[in-house]
Amino acid sequence: MRDARQYAPATQRNREPILEILTKILPAKSNVLEIASGTGEHAVFFASQLQSCHWIPSDNNPLACESIIAWKNFVGVDNLDTPLKIDVTKDDWIDQLATYKIDAIVNINMIHIAPWQACLSLMNGAGQILPPGGILYLYGPYKRDGEHTAPSNANFDRSLRDRNDQWGVRDLEAVIEVAATAKLRLQQVIEMPANNLSVIFSR
Ligand SMILES: C[S@@+](CC[C@H](N)C(=O)[O-])C[C@H]1O[C@@H](n2cnc3c(N)ncnc32)[C@H](O)[C@@H]1O
Repeated sequence: MRDARQYAPATQRNREPILEILTKILPAKSNVLEIASGTGEHAVFFASQLQSCHWIPSDNNPLACESIIAWKNFVGVDNLDTPLKIDVTKDDWIDQLATYKIDAIVNINMIHIAPWQACLSLMNGAGQILPPGGILYLYGPYKRDGEHTAPSNANFDRSLRDRNDQWGVRDLEAVIEVAATAKLRLQQVIEMPANNLSVIFSR
């Protein structure tokens, strides 16, 4: 049988620093919706490390969803749901979650590898799905005040734009402004390894 597990080497490097933050900000027993879970390596790791949480992975790519299922079966994590096929740019993504109680949303390395609309829709949806006090956690590279924070981020930005002119490293201030329109207040910006940021909002 085909092994559907995919591998993203960056997940092995960033999962521990991200876990350290999630451990501090996620309330115990939260239902955590992960948007854009990708391979599912983060999902199996975070679910197995955060046993009191219930992890709900998702992605818009069917192959990613297959990979998440394969990782879930391989590792055998009870508090990890079957992935939802969620495309945040589709109008119905909030309706898909009508029967779920979501306490926090985690989104790692997506908003720069998707059109700006994905960020707008993510914020709009998070503002509607999260309860007061609910957490939105973003991780990735950002420009600050319109400037790249490192040459490696500038190079990465160029390579993203070469692949797709709607992609690109986002301005932190623009993301915060969009969040504010969805009633998401910035709580914290934390510098992470390799010139990435953790950006934490609460509803
Ligand atoms: C660079 S990968 C990051 C995956 C994972 N979070 C990680 O850090 O390894 C970007 C992911 O965003 C997903 N994605 C892109 N556009 C999306 C959208 N509109 N809605 C949901 N997921 C999306 C892709 O399918 C892909 O899995």
